[in-house]
Amino acid sequence: MSEWWKSGVVYQIYPRSFCDTSGDGVGDLAGIRSKLDHLVWLGVDAVWVSPFYRSPMKDFGYDVSDYCDVDPLFGSLADFDALLEDCHARGLRVLVDWVPNHTSDRHPWFEESRRSRESAKRDWYVWRDGSPDRPPNNWRAAFSPDPAWTWDETTRQWYLHLFLAEQPDLNWRHPEVVGAMHDTLRFWLDRGVDGFRMDVIHCIGKDPALPDAPAEVAAIPWCALNDHPETHALLRDIRGVLEGYEGERVMVGEVYLLDTAQVASYYGTGDELHLSFNFPPLYAPWEAGAWRERIDQTERELRPRDAWPTWVLSNHDNPRHRTRYGSEARARAAAVLLLTLRGTPFLYAGEELGLEDAVVAEGRRVDPGGRDGCRAPIPWDGTPRRGWKGAEPWLPWPPEREARNAETLGADPGSILHLYRRLLHARRQSPALQVGSWEALDAPDDVLAYGRREGGDRRVVLVSMADTDRGVPLDGDWSIEVASDGAGEGGPYEGRIGPDQGLVLRP
Ligand code: GLC
Repeated sequence: MSEWWKSGVVYQIYPRSFCDTSGDGVGDLAGIRSKLDHLVWLGVDAVWVSPFYRSPMKDFGYDVSDYCDVDPLFGSLADFDALLEDCHARGLRVLVDWVPNHTSDRHPWFEESRRSRESAKRDWYVWRDGSPDRPPNNWRAAFSPDPAWTWDETTRQWYLHLFLAEQPDLNWRHPEVVGAMHDTLRFWLDRGVDGFRMDVIHCIGKDPALPDAPAEVAAIPWCALNDHPETHALLRDIRGVLEGYEGERVMVGEVYLLDTAQVASYYGTGDELHLSFNFPPLYAPWEAGAWRERIDQTERELRPRDAWPTWVLSNHDNPRHRTRYGSEARARAAAVLLLTLRGTPFLYAGEELGLEDAVVAEGRRVDPGGRDGCRAPIPWDGTPRRGWKGAEPWLPWPPEREARNAETLGADPGSILHLYRRLLHARRQSPALQVGSWEALDAPDDVLAYGRREGGDRRVVLVSMADTDRGVPLDGDWSIEVASDGAGEGGPYEGRIGPDQGLVLRP
């Protein structure tokens, strides 16, 4: 087994924002297909494509009305097959986003379920008795101050939705739901996908009593509450579906629990998730102490279980790290960290351009969760349309788009884009960086220092979060393989690191 998902790097594409070829201002599958050379040149191993299923788009695709079709906005199944074939021809694996906790309220399953209390699909969703003025428990829905319950006047019961009212939760205690959802996995596995990113996967098992939550977490049940033992058995069955297929099909779970020990349990004993997101580092400030703690915690919780870590700095749900950390120098040093820690890195499209979040004026905001800024379209070149066809994109462009686009940065060897490429190529050539052991090294408090080793291959990584130069003496002679600002690459390491600098050193 190659275990490509351990050594590889995954690149997340938010399809609405990647590249538009149809001229409607929304990115599409053909647009992704037209940019694969960029990904190969960059040096990533896999793409994860956020949802492109049929959807009323209340949560921009995370409200699915047909798991087995492509929304016409993005193209067709034939476009998907062509994309998959082109990716595979270039050696890129493809993960699709699977949304198992909830469907759209326009999914035929829910439409049938809500028709009457006697409907054959009534129990496919979570319905509860009560009076119209008092929801069954105190949980609140994501993105709003409202209850996680909506009263259905026709059948005079409440239904549960951890997210929008248009995203009713499926009832995974019902065997037909399990079977139908397994079939949706098979649909994509049969087409040849390499695996899935599984949306809020920790939420699928729920305490059947649905008890009130402690006040401090009632507003975030999708984040803090749902850590129910039933989910683990469901995950083992899902793993079984994937293992029925040839090749290495991978489950990457979005476990949105902000406690790494809880996250670790979703790897099971190698029979649940292959990989899980671990968000505490994403929320760490640019401070070496905070990062050291998150890294130590990850090593401490995951290593004993043989659970392989993941690292992510940006995605479609959070402000980009370039925006959070406040400077390109920091974004560059962070890239060194992301691509050299022990585990699988996930890049978010556009971070290789050093993009900041777009400033989205009140009148153009469209996301109920306020996440528009990080979803701004990707500028591909310096022309007014920036490589997009036709209409103004669905969201405004990010800052500095005249200069910060793939073509302009591609022509500048000193750009952040070239830094990402050098890091990805250095990683590909080094077993130590890909799969090696990890060991903390002595360094000043505001500098992270660690060694990676696999057999005879060794690297040392230094990332400074200090304001001024720091001395970091090392045993032996080291040369600079990659520097976040490009300074001194190929030359000897002189025992010092600059402020907000990252260095990959080789013997
Ligand atoms: C996940 C997705 C997010 C979506 C939510 C509901 O957190 O990343 O974008 O809104 O699940 O599906």
